Amino acid sequence: MRIGIIGTGVMGAFHAQCLHREVSGATVTAVADPDPKRAKDAAAAVGATAFAEPLELIDHTDVNAVVIASPDFRHAAQTLACLTAGKPTLCEKPLFYSVEEAEQVVTAHRVAVGDGTPLVHVGFMRCFDPELSRSASSIRAPPAARSWSTQPAAASPPVPP
Ligand SMILES: NC(=O)c1ccc[n+]([C@@H]2O[C@H](COP(=O)([O-])OP(=O)(O)OC[C@H]3O[C@@H](n4cnc5c(N)ncnc54)[C@H](O)[C@@H]3O)[C@@H](O)[C@H]2O)c1
Repeated sequence: MRIGIIGTGVMGAFHAQCLHREVSGATVTAVADPDPKRAKDAAAAVGATAFAEPLELIDHTDVNAVVIASPDFRHAAQTLACLTAGKPTLCEKPLFYSVEEAEQVVTAHRVAVGDGTPLVHVGFMRCFDPELSRSASSIRAPPAARSWSTQPAAASPPVPP
């Protein structure tokens, strides 16, 4: 799979390194960031092509899946562009910034895939955090059984060596 990464800050660089080093069959072919130095450095680290314009990356023929790690307020528009291009997408949380954006993304996703295999996934690793699951169970429990103190087990890891 040939992957393009949008946004090459903390999370984008981390995704690029993980895909490049750890995921067999994945090649990071392109990165995009309006900060030319970040784009150039991230591209050089994984042997990818650097773009300044994310939409150019999404439409590029050498990209068949996209990771969105840009600032929150760009996620919905970039996800919509990925859906238009029909490219599987992992978007960092949050997927959208407003109810209007949520409706646009959900509608576009329904149009793109109907009841088929989802094209968009959200990078929200807290759903694998047992403490968060316990919190959810606690909220659903009768009031007397609720516990309101939790300690998240997960935290953003450093970029692996
Ligand atoms: N840092 C974390 O621990 C963490 C954890 C989970 C999720 N996230 C999410 O990941 C996303 C990125 O976070 P981060 O910490 O890497 O931020 P960051 O500020 O380190 O990086 C964001 C990058 O996006 C670039 N950028 C700015 N405008 C852009 C645009 N229009 N298109 C593409 N790129 C653009 C910036 O130049 C920068 O390089 C955010 O949505 C955040 O909520 C971050």
